[in-house]
Amino acid sequence: MNHESQKTTIANTVQLGSDLSVNRLGYGAMRLTGQPGNFGRYADWTAGKQLLRRAIELGINFIDTAESYGPGYNEELIASALYPYPDDLVIATKGGVLKTAPDNIRTDGSPNSLRRSCEASLKRLKVDRIGLYQLHRPDPNVPFVESIGMLAELQREGKIRHIGLSNVTIAQIEAARQIVDISSVQNRLNLAERNGEDILDYCTQHNIAFIPYSPLGAHPLKRGAPLANAEGILTEIAARQDVKPSQIALSWMLHRAPNIILIPGTTTISHLEENIAAASITLTADDIKLLNEAQVF
Ligand SMILES: NC(=O)c1ccc[n+]([C@@H]2O[C@H](COP(=O)([O-])OP(=O)(O)OC[C@H]3O[C@@H](n4cnc5c(N)ncnc54)[C@H](OP(=O)(O)O)[C@@H]3O)[C@@H](O)[C@H]2O)c1
Repeated sequence: MNHESQKTTIANTVQLGSDLSVNRLGYGAMRLTGQPGNFGRYADWTAGKQLLRRAIELGINFIDTAESYGPGYNEELIASALYPYPDDLVIATKGGVLKTAPDNIRTDGSPNSLRRSCEASLKRLKVDRIGLYQLHRPDPNVPFVESIGMLAELQREGKIRHIGLSNVTIAQIEAARQIVDISSVQNRLNLAERNGEDILDYCTQHNIAFIPYSPLGAHPLKRGAPLANAEGILTEIAARQDVKPSQIALSWMLHRAPNIILIPGTTTISHLEENIAAASITLTADDIKLLNEAQVF
């Protein structure tokens, strides 16, 4: 078989529900907050606005945020950079997690708290309806169906266009789908951390977009992308294509399943440009096999 015929083509967009389609390379805005711990106002507000505007210029039309990033400041930064928004921009935010200190996160999935969170996000983002509203994580102290029931209610009221879940199991996705349409699932998954691949496969089979968070393997409270510094096969394939290991790690995910939307996070425009360029990389079937079998760390 010649090299060309082995190439795997990938689509450019992913469907969110039946009415939205977004570019597969999105942006995760969490890092545009106070550090450490994604807590407080981003120190260089102007640079944050410039980066978000550059993301739009480069064709990004899916931005992931959450009430707990900042908290609140991350959504405010997005609005201050991009409002009035381009027509095709989907801002995906989340509720159900309360952050009171850099290392203090509390889950609150009670209906009242979710309503308060959603309505506060609407105000900060300056929108009447949120494109994708995600339950940040199930609350072990609140019956899951009650949290989902509130998201369904907010959707009926027109405050949410699509509902997504984050940090969930297949059983939880199935329980939620008994109540509402679920358009996306956001769980941690990357080339080096593949425990949740069964959940990705479930989403692929059921036409649910899958948003793997920390696609470059970052620790939630620390800077740096472990997959940008990996050695071995990742570096070899990257060198052969004259690209960066981080780009191969992102490209592997795009080739892994057609319903994946990537949201790599960065605070630098050069990394943003690099990450977006990963969408143009084509991997051969042999490359994919090698990456699938690799022990990356
Ligand atoms: N649902 C959840 O519970 C949850 C949890 C965590 C994250 N998330 C979402 O996932 C998004 C991404 O996650 P993440 O930011 O934790 O992890 P990530 O995308 O795996 O990595 C981000 C880190 O990698 C660095 N980086 C980015 N591009 C790079 C490049 N091309 N070369 C070298 N280093 C690079 C960034 O530093 P620089 O700033 O220096 O580029 C940053 O420290 C977040 O923004 C958030 O939206 C969701």
